[in-house]
Amino acid sequence: MFSIRVTKPFLSVLFLLFSSGVFAQQVDLSLAPDTGKGHIISRHIYGHFAEHLGRCIYDGFWVADTMKVAKKDRIRLDIVEALKKIRIPNLRWPGGCFADEYHWRDGIGPRAQRPKMVNTNWGGVTEDNSFGTHEFMELCELLKCEPYITANVGSGTVEEMSKWVEYFNFDGISPMANQRKQNGHAKPWKVSFWGVGNESWGCGGDMTPEFYADQYKRYATYARNYPGAPLKKIAGGANTSDYNWTEVLMKNVGPRKMWGLSLHYYTLPNNDGWPPKGSATQFDEAQYFNTMKNCLRMDELVTRHSAIMDKYDKEKQVALVVDEWGIWTEVEPGTNPGFLYQQNSLRDALIAGTTLNIFNNHSDRVRVANLAQSINVLQSLILTKGRQMLLTPTYHVFDLYKVHQDAKYLPLQFTSPAYTLGDQKIPALNASASQDSTGAIHITLVNLDPNKSLSLKTGLRGLSWQNVNGSIVTSTKLTDINTFEKPDNIHVLPFSGARKQGTDLVVDLPAKSVVMLELK
Ligand code: AHR
Repeated sequence: MFSIRVTKPFLSVLFLLFSSGVFAQQVDLSLAPDTGKGHIISRHIYGHFAEHLGRCIYDGFWVADTMKVAKKDRIRLDIVEALKKIRIPNLRWPGGCFADEYHWRDGIGPRAQRPKMVNTNWGGVTEDNSFGTHEFMELCELLKCEPYITANVGSGTVEEMSKWVEYFNFDGISPMANQRKQNGHAKPWKVSFWGVGNESWGCGGDMTPEFYADQYKRYATYARNYPGAPLKKIAGGANTSDYNWTEVLMKNVGPRKMWGLSLHYYTLPNNDGWPPKGSATQFDEAQYFNTMKNCLRMDELVTRHSAIMDKYDKEKQVALVVDEWGIWTEVEPGTNPGFLYQQNSLRDALIAGTTLNIFNNHSDRVRVANLAQSINVLQSLILTKGRQMLLTPTYHVFDLYKVHQDAKYLPLQFTSPAYTLGDQKIPALNASASQDSTGAIHITLVNLDPNKSLSLKTGLRGLSWQNVNGSIVTSTKLTDINTFEKPDNIHVLPFSGARKQGTDLVVDLPAKSVVMLELK
């Protein structure tokens, strides 16, 4: 059996020794019994999101002709290279709320002739439609990732979605396939991930779950599977803890008609909603504690939505698709409030590491997830300023965790030491593990306690390994960020706190850190 004993550092041990008579607070971490139902962690859990919002597409991925950066057409190649490095598996587009006002025909054909529109959701700016279907697919091809399209249900039509699917996927003679060819793409793209609307309970049409379930069935019926291009249709799911939404969708639509059902949950620094949401860069330990408590709520949400899905789908055929997650703070002072541009601190790295561990640990049901959003919006991977770009602490966590993509899930069991603030407690430690196709074992560990390190010891019985290597993301302060002046303030560093002691693995896990261990 694979077991890890976690002990607090020496001073804590002494404190516990005198206060409770116990020698050391310790945690046994073990592999859960083998149920014979081992599964793979889908790489699509590591997906991203690009909405026509603020500077994500325009002045993010897609820049002015005149900008002096390496480009293909107007796509920034430094961004492409950075995202390829973390093996981006899929990219969700064009929204978000924007998707339910987007009419795809406005974004094809000669750019100069494309109509303009107002982006009413995000800042009221003029959208020139220069980035449309072909440009997005060019981006996905450069990224070598799968596209995930969200169709317009809120203000669109069944015909519009149906024809968009035909335009993307049909290889033959048809009005849409012919038009695609005229626009320069002879072969169909064969896109499989299709979201049927977005947040249909809110910005996507303010519907009841019963009404949306009926709408979903109409739209899904005419979204056809063309030869060689079966669709993975994803129903718009619940907001946070709206369990009734999940119940109604599972009951009224069910596993035969949907591949996935989505869930949106954002971590807010302040309690009980918004506004004000709290600053991205200026927060004290109490606000940090509260933010992490809210972040950990993802585990409860996924558990409870999954339990409802289990009632109607014991075989877990329907994927839970958490296609919007991340921290949502106040915008950076002086920036357009409609653009949702926020900085990204060590706290965000801890949120990313924790949330990805939660998804790995629920990967029997969670098979797609999308961080909101990739560039310059909310919890970004990359921030840009003119020609400059920087990789955020969150990016570096995705870099560490890419080893879990399509690896065999290894279930861990342990009770975490508490991170205590005043009279409140949250678990200090969260973790997940997997084994890749070469036999290498990867364990990702997050210590949320900003003040105390943890000591871990495991026998790793049943697994054979000789060496351990590690990488770490941490910094001096929780509020530390990467800036355009100091873009490498926080980055991945080699981790030397893990070693083999006899047959045991021993780890000294620093406070406020995300660590990835590789055992071979
Ligand atoms: O990610 C920003 C917005 O948050 C999305 O457009 C919407 O779906 C959600 O409310």
